[in-house]
Amino acid sequence: MRIDILTLFPDMCETVLSESIIGRAREAGHVDIACHNIRDYTEDKHNRVDDYPYGGGTGMVMQAQPIYDCYEDVCKKAGAGHLHLIYMTPQGRTLTQSRVRELAEFDHLVILCGHYEGVDERVLDELVDEEISIGDYVLTGGELPACILADSICRMLPGVLANDEAFQQESHYGHLLEYPQYTRPAEWHGREVPEVLLSGDHAKVDRWRLEQAVSRTHERRPDLLEAADLTPDEAEILRTLTEE
Ligand code: ADE
Repeated sequence: MRIDILTLFPDMCETVLSESIIGRAREAGHVDIACHNIRDYTEDKHNRVDDYPYGGGTGMVMQAQPIYDCYEDVCKKAGAGHLHLIYMTPQGRTLTQSRVRELAEFDHLVILCGHYEGVDERVLDELVDEEISIGDYVLTGGELPACILADSICRMLPGVLANDEAFQQESHYGHLLEYPQYTRPAEWHGREVPEVLLSGDHAKVDRWRLEQAVSRTHERRPDLLEAADLTPDEAEILRTLTEE
């Protein structure tokens, strides 16, 4: 998988995506990420990439030409006529894990980060395949959303997570919230680790975790349970909870 990010702040994305699991995945060659500075493509003699909005109003609008040329250069270097281009914007469809899973199937993605008050609509009309929002709030630019999207896609790629973690995310816990986790010491600030986790009985631990996952989801995100195809065990746990 290759991801190209088109941005006015390439260092911002590069820094975030060089650390931790994604940084190691890049070093190991599981994913190839490149951040491009849109400003490198301006034809303006003062290096400008934005201008005043037609019709007036506050703020500046990113111009079409540098974005278009940056994208074309990425396509040309990849030997591709067109690459799937995602524009990060609060006006896009809210990102979900199922869309992340689908996007992880692409060989090559390009992500465009907006800034200032917006981007000239004509370049969006001409190039963009998909608009994605990371939630109903507004950030100062698309860089953090682009990093979030890239991170969520990369962790789905083969080899990026340890095998058991990768299995777990596809397992029966997949559509539920996580069960609570504990590590040493067994008692901290007078709070004890649930006894079942110290029992060594794997079947009991599994059952307890499933009960915790279902009850947390029921309390905090009942909408997830409504949308989910529950296993018989999960449905039984949920029935007990709702009968209480
Ligand atoms: N740019 C600014 N806010 C955003 C959001 N919530 N999602 C995606 N891109 C954005």
